[in-house]
Amino acid sequence: MNSEALLQTESVERLKSIVRGMEEEKGRKITACVITFGCQMNARDSEKLSGILSEAGFELSEDEASDFVIYNTCTVRDNANQRVYGRLGALYAMKKKHPDKKIALCGCMMQEPSVIEKIKKSYSFVDLIFGTHNIYRFASLLCRMYEEGSMVVEIWDKAETIVEDLPIVRKYPFKSGVNIMFGCDNFCSYCIVPYVRGRERSREPKDILREIEVLAADGVKEVMLLGQNVNSYGKGLDVPVSFSELLSMVSEIEGIERIRFMTSHPKDLSDDLIRVMRDTPKVCRHLHLPLQSGSTKLLEVMNRRYTKDQYLELALRIREAIPDLAITTDIIVGFPGETDEDIEDTLEVIRRVKFDNAFTFIYSPRTGTPAASMEQVPDKLTKERFDRLLKLVQDTAREAVSKYEGQVMDALVEEINEHDPSLLTGRLSNNTIVHFPGEPSLIGQIVPVELRECKGFYYLGEIVI
Ligand code: 5AD
Ligand code: SF4
Repeated sequence: MNSEALLQTESVERLKSIVRGMEEEKGRKITACVITFGCQMNARDSEKLSGILSEAGFELSEDEASDFVIYNTCTVRDNANQRVYGRLGALYAMKKKHPDKKIALCGCMMQEPSVIEKIKKSYSFVDLIFGTHNIYRFASLLCRMYEEGSMVVEIWDKAETIVEDLPIVRKYPFKSGVNIMFGCDNFCSYCIVPYVRGRERSREPKDILREIEVLAADGVKEVMLLGQNVNSYGKGLDVPVSFSELLSMVSEIEGIERIRFMTSHPKDLSDDLIRVMRDTPKVCRHLHLPLQSGSTKLLEVMNRRYTKDQYLELALRIREAIPDLAITTDIIVGFPGETDEDIEDTLEVIRRVKFDNAFTFIYSPRTGTPAASMEQVPDKLTKERFDRLLKLVQDTAREAVSKYEGQVMDALVEEINEHDPSLLTGRLSNNTIVHFPGEPSLIGQIVPVELRECKGFYYLGEIVI
């Protein structure tokens, strides 16, 4: 254990006695609620926050009326920020009734200086603020919050180390995210991630493998390897290891039955990776390959470092090598300078690749990124183009997803269906969701399901016995 991890272990002990003191005073358990905004990385970070809270003696709850509430924020698009401000108002109303309530904010949004200013000025009831680089210091920051009694703000502008061995509470017993790298060096001109998550750093393969071995021993069947750009994994390690090599090593771990990963940058996707995906049954039949735009002109201004033709060539080559692989993507509409011609290019890529799903986003200017100071497209034009694109995405996705109708495929049972408790919800290797009747005791198991009816992005099915 390094000195930083040791310091945090000591802080957890201090925190335990603070929590015990509060319990005695109130004559009950002290509750804590972690709310996550944004991506899988944040979801994983929240599991680390929950791990520390639980270790310190807090009772975890999903209720924002809890004694301690932390928002793990996202800032990739402005609507994520607006949601946080909106919900903070509601928290303030609760805090006025219960002045002992503590409120903390962390995550990507907190790495923006303008946000910190705004919170200090207009949301001064917040008790603790920290960012993405010092999340592993959560235990000592919490001690400070309880001991100091005034707003604690600690933001670092870069990461100092990667701290291993923090306690974690997983949301699902049978599947888990695993960080393989942090940060991003690509500086796509619209994206704030490199500014708020810092430079690209890969974890040592031995640390990743050990983490996954422990997960497997604990009953985890599916892991999702997480990084902003997993295809460039391994650069900067003492002994460089490529992402495809890492994938092969992970697939050797007994007990792990499915491996997913997010996100792939098209410019770095190697032939080796295609081969390993094709030849390794444990690697799920799903690739998320963000396109962003089909226009070579816009891709250049976006600093994506591939052309429309290069993307098409790659996607179609992958389709040919692994025909049952689902390809999903991200697309931005309304990027500065976008014309009808650019949208036509994007529509053509969608038509030719026939994505199994596409997440479409309206461009959101982010302060400090190059695209924010470029001339913006009028909202009305963007809205019309967005609707056109969404319609095509839905049509092609239905076509791509429905081709498995009638087949039997393995599904990992994840939960009871949200809307109909007689149904279970499972996920196929290709990431498609299927709902089917079954007993809740099957949650966490991989079961064969006949895909009876395609409903667009998902299936209705029946377990095959
Ligand atoms: N505006 C809209 N969408 C964005 N994304 C990233 N930055 C922005 C932005 N400023 C999208 C990209 C990325 C996904 C995670 O979010 O499509 O792949
Ligand atoms: Fe943002 Fe581009 Fe990095 Fe993805 S690759 S996080 S879009 S800068």
